[in-house]
Formats: sequence, structure tokens, C-alpha cells
Amino acid sequence: MRRPVFFPVLALLLSTTAFAQMPTGGGNVGKPMPENARDNRQIIPLTEAERSAVAAEMRQMLASIQSITDGLSRDDMQAVSEAASKSGMAMMQGLPPQIRMKFPAAFSQMGMASHKAFDQIARETKTGKDPVPVLRQLSTAMQNCVACHAVYRFAPTN
Ligand code: HEC
Repeated sequence: MRRPVFFPVLALLLSTTAFAQMPTGGGNVGKPMPENARDNRQIIPLTEAERSAVAAEMRQMLASIQSITDGLSRDDMQAVSEAASKSGMAMMQGLPPQIRMKFPAAFSQMGMASHKAFDQIARETKTGKDPVPVLRQLSTAMQNCVACHAVYRFAPTN
């Protein structure tokens, strides 16, 4: 019977690892910001209300991605299609034009590419059954999220 020996050893190992990861002396407090944390992103000035409207869309896209991956994991293509269609071009067109006018051209292009990708996933999962191409499309679509977040941020206008 090795169990009684094995488990205490495992427990000890785990607790040592957890202890090693614990911040000591308040973690990063008091230390200078690391060089790579400097924020060089380009600012897009928006009013607080405008920022809220765009942020709500962003959160919807994140929610769509969660539901898409959930649907794929359950082999439920109808759920995938419905989740994707919530973040398609229709959503973007619901954003007031005075907000969209404030976006730089490259920002609008990346935004549009994301919404079109969601529409494409919604269309293709109405008939397709294979999750692999959907995951590939989702991954490609998410390159836009990553690329745009690396370059832009919003800041209040006053
Ligand atoms: C065209 C540019 C662009 C694209 C594409 C984009 N985002 Fe964003 N997103 C932003 C900007 C800018 C912010 C605000 C960041 C800041 O001000 O710090 C933001 C913020 C967010 C937030 C935070 C919202 C909040 O409540 O504050 C989430 C979540 C998010 N994006 C998810 C996504 C996801 C998921 C995708 C891809 C499906 C995506 N975004 C695609 C530009 C973009």
C-alpha cells in the first residue's frame, strides 16, 4: 500500500509550491513599474457615455466568444451560430454614427473585420458540423482583438 506515503508527500510538494508563489512583503508594492508596463497605446478620445457604449459592445464580443467555445465543446452548432450572430455587423451598425466617426481608419477596419468574422461563423455553423474550421475562424477573428488592444485605448475628452 503506497497511498498513505504518497499523499502526504504530494500534499507537502503542493504546499511548498503554493508558498513559493505567495507574494512576500506586499508583492510589487513600492517597486518601480517594470519597463514593459509603460502604456504607449494610441489614445482615442471619447466622452464617458461614448466609451460606455463601445465597452458594452466589447463585453458582448467577449460573451459571444465564451458562448461559441461552450457550444463547440457541447457539439451544439445552433448555440454557436446564435452566439456569433450577436456580435456581427448588425451590432456595429447599432453604434451611433457620431461615435464611429471618431475612430481612426485602421481602428474601424479591425472592428469591421471582427464583426464580419462573427457573421461568417454564424452563417457557416448553420450548416457545418465540424468544430475545427470554426475554431480556426474564431482564432483568426481574435487576432483582431489582440492587435487592436495592443495599439489603442480610450481616454475621456474634457
Ligand atoms: C478596433 C479595435 C478593437 C477591436 C477589434 C477589439 N477591441 Fe476590445 N477594446 C478596444 C479598446 C480601445 C478598448 C479599451 C481599452 C482601454 O481603454 O484601456 C477595448 C476594451 C475591451 C474590453 C473591456 C471593456 C470594458 O468594459 O471596459 C473587452 C472585454 C474587450 N475589449 C473585448 C474584445 C474582444 C473579445 C474583441 C474581439 C472579438 C475585441 N475586444 C476587439 C478596441 C478593440
